[in-house]
Amino acid sequence: MQIALDGPAGAGKSTVAKAIAKKLDIMYLDTGAMYRAVALHMIDNGITVDQIEAVTNALNTIDLQVNYEDGTQKMYLAGEDVSLRIRENAVSKAASDFSALQPVRLFLVKMQQETAAKNNCILDGRDIGTFVLPGADFKFFLTATSAERAKRRANELEEKGQVVDVNKIQAEIEQRDYNDSHREFAPLKQAEDAVLIDSTNMTVDEVINFVVSVIEGK
Ligand code: DC
Repeated sequence: MQIALDGPAGAGKSTVAKAIAKKLDIMYLDTGAMYRAVALHMIDNGITVDQIEAVTNALNTIDLQVNYEDGTQKMYLAGEDVSLRIRENAVSKAASDFSALQPVRLFLVKMQQETAAKNNCILDGRDIGTFVLPGADFKFFLTATSAERAKRRANELEEKGQVVDVNKIQAEIEQRDYNDSHREFAPLKQAEDAVLIDSTNMTVDEVINFVVSVIEGK
């Protein structure tokens, strides 16, 4: 079984995907984490998004691994666990920029398709239903208003003790949505056969129960 879960930044895709994977006892692949790790590798090597040749060379030698430890996805670069570093704000922005490059996408899409061919799985991302797994058994497009997504993100950061500016977070989210949906190659877009879920006024449990009801109802 293959499930595609797409949507813009901060819509709650990873929370929902994790819960669905647990409920159905299938694998969860967070494809955004893969774009983030590639972006971090480029940053660490001083490569910028306009240096296509350097990007392509770096992809030929990158040592990128997706591991599962206690059921949690971990990203490794050359043996180093970078799972925390890839969540930094600068990496979010760089991931959106580097993910617009066709060589980056083709490199990661191949890894994603190989993983999905071997496992029952749920993948979350931007182009899973439209490009990575066009034949997925179930497709969902999870969204919420940018104000609501910014509010949720601000709450998460505040819980970690950080001081936040919710307007700035909303502006960053909107910028990333714009980048991700306006790139030429495999942009963020709802697949025609995806079920749209607007979670603006829904709890996480309501979203999860809805997704499960769609899957079990088929
Ligand atoms: O889901 P995320 O915020 O961790 O993703 C980081 C960036 O990676 C996002 O801004 C766009 C890119 N991305 C993508 O282009 N395609 C995917 N399938 C997943 C993420």
